[in-house]
Amino acid sequence: MRDRPWILLGLVAFLGLITFPIWYNQAAGTTSAAPELQKAVKGDTCIYPTDYMRASHMDVLMRWRDEVVRNDKRLVKIGDKTYNMSLTSTCMDCHTSKADFCDKCHNYAGVKPYCWDCHVDPALLKGGAGERAALRAPGGQHVD
Ligand code: HEC
Ligand code: HEC
Ligand code: HEC
Repeated sequence: MRDRPWILLGLVAFLGLITFPIWYNQAAGTTSAAPELQKAVKGDTCIYPTDYMRASHMDVLMRWRDEVVRNDKRLVKIGDKTYNMSLTSTCMDCHTSKADFCDKCHNYAGVKPYCWDCHVDPALLKGGAGERAALRAPGGQHVD
């Protein structure tokens, strides 16, 4: 029974650690509520159901990239709609703000996709939809 104080101390430290996110947020006066994202400027739904997109948009983008870059296919039919498989021309036609949509969520989640090294943030374009539709990442090899 000589170990009892140590066991108690260990328990207290353990509880402190596992509840860290709760009291840390309270002490810092913040909450872990999800960030406010820009609403899509058009469309009632995303190209696939929103829950699926929230979790798997990167898979969709990678699939699109492979279709375009490797298989030279540009159009995809989803339900009764046909889309151009393009990050800038399609996704960013509805989600127009990289800063208030993609970045906001990625900063919150701590991810930093490198896509923007080559693909253009439409906010940096002045010409609007026409210019966006004509836009392609500059020529060269895709990285993956
Ligand atoms: C026709 C317009 C349209 C297109 C094109 C589109 N989306 Fe969406 N997307 C929406 C709508 C509407 C929602 C539901 C939330 C809202 O109203 O903003 C949504 C939701 C999402 C969400 C979940 C957001 C959340 O609130 O959790 C992600 C992530 C997303 N889209 C990514 C993409 C990506 C990546 C592409 C391209 C592959 C894309 N979207 C193409 C309209 C679109
Ligand atoms: C609702 C939150 C949310 C929104 C909005 C969102 N993302 Fe993401 N994205 C994530 C999360 C979380 C991950 C990391 C997932 C993982 O690692 O499993 C991620 C990962 C990615 C990845 C893979 C990066 C990597 O290094 O693995 C790409 C590419 C990506 N997002 C593109 C986009 C683009 C483009 C937009 C805007 C059109 C966007 N995302 C909007 C939450 C979001
Ligand atoms: C080194 C430069 C580079 C990087 C980094 C890069 N891409 Fe690309 N990407 C290209 C090029 C070049 C093309 C072919 C452009 C074309 O033919 O329209 C392309 C095409 C695509 C396409 C289909 C065409 C389009 O208009 O979008 C998708 C989708 C795509 N990339 C997604 C991504 C995603 C997602 C990332 C980040 C995880 C990424 N790319 C990172 C250069 C790059």
